[in-house]
Amino acid sequence: EKDGFDWFMRKEIYEQPKAIGDTLLGRYDTDGALRLDELRMSEAELRRIDKIIIVACGTAFYAGLVAKYAIEHWTRIACEVELAHEFRYRDPIVNPNTLVVCISQSGETADSLMAVRHAAEQGAKVLAICNTNGSTIPRESDAVIYTHAGPEIGVASTKGFTTQLVACYLLGLYLAQVRGTLFGDEIARLMAELEEMPATLQRVLDESEPVLKLAGDFAEQPSVLFLGRHVGYPVALEGALKLKELAYIHAEGFAAGELKHGPIALVDDGLPVFVVVPPKGRDMLHDKVVSNIAEIRARGALTVVLAEEDDPEIEPLADVWIRLPKVSTLLQPVLATVPLQLFACELATRKGHDVDQPRNLAKSVTVE
Ligand code: F6R
Repeated sequence: EKDGFDWFMRKEIYEQPKAIGDTLLGRYDTDGALRLDELRMSEAELRRIDKIIIVACGTAFYAGLVAKYAIEHWTRIACEVELAHEFRYRDPIVNPNTLVVCISQSGETADSLMAVRHAAEQGAKVLAICNTNGSTIPRESDAVIYTHAGPEIGVASTKGFTTQLVACYLLGLYLAQVRGTLFGDEIARLMAELEEMPATLQRVLDESEPVLKLAGDFAEQPSVLFLGRHVGYPVALEGALKLKELAYIHAEGFAAGELKHGPIALVDDGLPVFVVVPPKGRDMLHDKVVSNIAEIRARGALTVVLAEEDDPEIEPLADVWIRLPKVSTLLQPVLATVPLQLFACELATRKGHDVDQPRNLAKSVTVE
């Protein structure tokens, strides 16, 4: 059932355009209104929310980190993101106007389930973003958005993650529609971009040869760093996690702005550093990351740069340039994550590891 692929993981990476299309299916009317039919929460309830807390573990947590940027920007509702097992064991400020969003591919992660119960006990509304129909977390939640990615068999989450991102964007845009914090044409523009995303992502997959080759070159590297800012920061964390869990290589993701506060001391001759560069826009984000690349190159880093395909500033700064199609900054994680998934999958394959069943890991962690 691997459809000719060597691993379920690789198959699931290549399924992402379709999976994202399925997450989007039926959510957007031809009359320009977003609909989340299965949500089970009324518009009145959604208008009352004054704080959002996203709880999740692992890769799903990184989806939550991305979601925070989008939700706060589009809805102006304060949004926190917390590891479910941390949220569970402190004394969070939660009340009936708090929306707790639990992101879980399996819907069975014990830490995330305990966080859901903890939130519900305190009167919060709980919304699950989940891939597994009828699993425990959506059953115990007030509301649900299913990602419809199809079964994810590889232990490392791939299409689970990118469809979680899309579901989070849908939630953010829906809240913006209900609360009137974005103009209809702005929602329409973003929805059009999302609806293009399966095709855009297909292009990233079709042009993935350089990243596969890179995995061959890096098989002996003891350590790899990942840098990003804004929504590129969680992408960096996810790239590092994939490498750890599949290739058993030490990898760390940092917020690029944090470099000079410590991590830059790690940068030495030949250290591979992946950098996620935001699209060139009206803000300073892009230029800040570009100057971070110059800083690490000056210290000998080998730079693998994920940046827009027509960005004139990248060529002199990149040992390897992974070209990404042009999209809005907030949506870029969907594209930027995929080459990092492929890189980890390929590197682990070349090292002879079992990509679908990495050592010490289980697909769903049903114990605390
Ligand atoms: C990493 C990975 C894990 C899961 C985490 C949460 O590739 O798969 O970090 O993301 O265990 O799992 P779910 O989403 O099923 O709650």
